[in-house]
Amino acid sequence: MDMRPIGVFDSGLGGLTAVRSLRQILPEEDLIYFGDTARVPYGGRARETILKYARQDVRFLRSFDLKAIIIACGTVSTTSLETLQKENDLPIVGVVEPTCRRALAVTKNRKVGMIATQASVRSGAYEETLLRLDPKVEMISRPCPLFVPLVENGRIHRGDVVIETVAREYLEPMKEAGVDTLILGCTHYPLLTEIIADIMGPEVELVSAGEESAFELKRLLKIRGLRTDEDRKGGAEFYVSDRPEDFECTASVFLGEDLHRAARRIDIDKY
Ligand code: DGL
Repeated sequence: MDMRPIGVFDSGLGGLTAVRSLRQILPEEDLIYFGDTARVPYGGRARETILKYARQDVRFLRSFDLKAIIIACGTVSTTSLETLQKENDLPIVGVVEPTCRRALAVTKNRKVGMIATQASVRSGAYEETLLRLDPKVEMISRPCPLFVPLVENGRIHRGDVVIETVAREYLEPMKEAGVDTLILGCTHYPLLTEIIADIMGPEVELVSAGEESAFELKRLLKIRGLRTDEDRKGGAEFYVSDRPEDFECTASVFLGEDLHRAARRIDIDKY
């Protein structure tokens, strides 16, 4: 049995999709969440910058005695996972492979769409992984750079003209291409699930990156004997690098609990 917490990080709110999943499938585990809200979005930045930020995020999380880390960020997972795994002596799970496995399990026509940040699409990581797992699959990918800032600004609700207009522009070509599965390759995007599902229609299955990595972590903890006492109820601590109030507001809606004054601000430049 291992009582130590699990670290989860993202550039901002997106990693909450992994937190929501972890709470459902590993409710007994303690979580430490870090959202780098002072520097979000990461997705338009150079690989070196993303790695530099990700190293700092990991160093901050490792100021706690953790048993594992989930990189609940597509951008960091697609660009920096291997380096972070090599540099750290604890299990680190990214989002790419678990998400691709899930997409292949649900697609019937083997036409898979993938939307993510520019850095993730540029990296080619989803495509490479998908084709390694099934060389016959066809993947169509598209960056959606306006999604992250809109989500961070709380524009996540049906009926919001701005997010709906942007989403239609990004997604209609995907729909026309005939994909039956759409990977939400950036962990911010599941906060837009309703809007994306309205445009894609009920026949297209949405696969969320953050959720799948939570299942992967569960498997890994079990194999390595790192699960905690299953009868307890785990807690969560939230840290951000900028004003906690905005984070708390959208996080409360998304997680369905009152996070008022639950997040603390830290200075990420110290790490
Ligand atoms: N949630 C992130 C991802 O999964 C971050 C996006 C960003 O900061 O641009 O890619």
